[in-house]
Amino acid sequence: MPRKPSLASLSINAGAPLPENGRAFRHGPEFASTFHLSGDVDPNAYQYGRFGQPTWTSLEQGLAQLEGGDTIVFPSGMSAAAGILTSLLKPGDTILLPSDGYAPVRFYTEQYLVKFGVKLKTIPTQEIDNFDFSGIDLALLETPSNPMLDTFDIQGVAAKIHKSGGLLAIDNTTLTFLGQQPLALGADISMSADTKAVNGHSDVVFGHVACTSQALSDKIRQWRKFSGNIPGPMETWLVHRSLSTLDVRLQRMCDTAMLLAQALYEHPKVKSVRYPGLPKDPSYNIAKTQQQLFGFIISFELDSKCKADAFLKACSLVYEATSFGGVHSTAERRARWGTDNIAPGVVRFSVGCERADDLIYDVMHALKQL
Ligand SMILES: Cc1ncc(COP(=O)(O)O)c(C=O)c1O
Repeated sequence: MPRKPSLASLSINAGAPLPENGRAFRHGPEFASTFHLSGDVDPNAYQYGRFGQPTWTSLEQGLAQLEGGDTIVFPSGMSAAAGILTSLLKPGDTILLPSDGYAPVRFYTEQYLVKFGVKLKTIPTQEIDNFDFSGIDLALLETPSNPMLDTFDIQGVAAKIHKSGGLLAIDNTTLTFLGQQPLALGADISMSADTKAVNGHSDVVFGHVACTSQALSDKIRQWRKFSGNIPGPMETWLVHRSLSTLDVRLQRMCDTAMLLAQALYEHPKVKSVRYPGLPKDPSYNIAKTQQQLFGFIISFELDSKCKADAFLKACSLVYEATSFGGVHSTAERRARWGTDNIAPGVVRFSVGCERADDLIYDVMHALKQL
């Protein structure tokens, strides 16, 4: 039996045209709002740009192969999350969200779904493994969580929530499908803010949702069609173009993150470090069994808000910015948003594709200035 290629190798050509003589290696973006459509409506033909279009199809087919389930693309990670929540929840249902995850998902639920009778429960990520899921209709959880990188056992949680009749959706943004496979681990839905590592060049806002069951993906695709939350062909094509280099980018970013996390861990001016690849990290045991990569985000604590600000100013290779997953290293004092319950000196650091020796030198040099 020939050996099956890894997802990493498949990601290079996922969703590309079949290799036929005279055919280009790649699709270009197809700009279309209107398609020829005569006679009775053909359900298999493109009909209208809000319902479906070829550039989405190419990327969706590529992502479906990598995620292991039918995939729907969205114009942002938030619209992907909103699509899951709004299309699957009904009045009286209970949604479980992490209290320490990406805060706007909670804000969307509080502002737009609770008033229609959806009940919201929140839980710190560290308590998820021991949670009793009875009464939960849908859980949309993050592992590793953003920003503090706590983890839980997807397989164990999926088994528990399915037993009590609920659905499990995983926000896989911090790792991507090359770093963790939520559907293979038993989740019903995997979502991602492709604004981050999947696109990886800090020039596109994008998202997608992948589902194990066609019944779920049909509902989410229908929400996209009727709410009009659709991505443009240019953005879709840019994300598809970036997919071919995702594996090389991630390998470099994660290798460097491990080295940087070790250097920070040993540094006297760093109070604490969270990185799932450090054997002493509370996330390590789960990360090493269910993840293919330890990730490219490190959260570490300096003594105070002032020290964190001074550190960010003293770095020369690191852009101060929110967001993560780009080819360039970025970092921010995360408490500046006031939305996460974290210490004022915490720096969330997203390792980019710079050479490891240059980046580590830059960070160590900046710490020396404090
Ligand atoms: C874990 C996570 N989920 C979802 C989102 C939302 O993605 P977007 O900004 O593309 O709407 C983000 C953005 O930072 C995120 O970090």
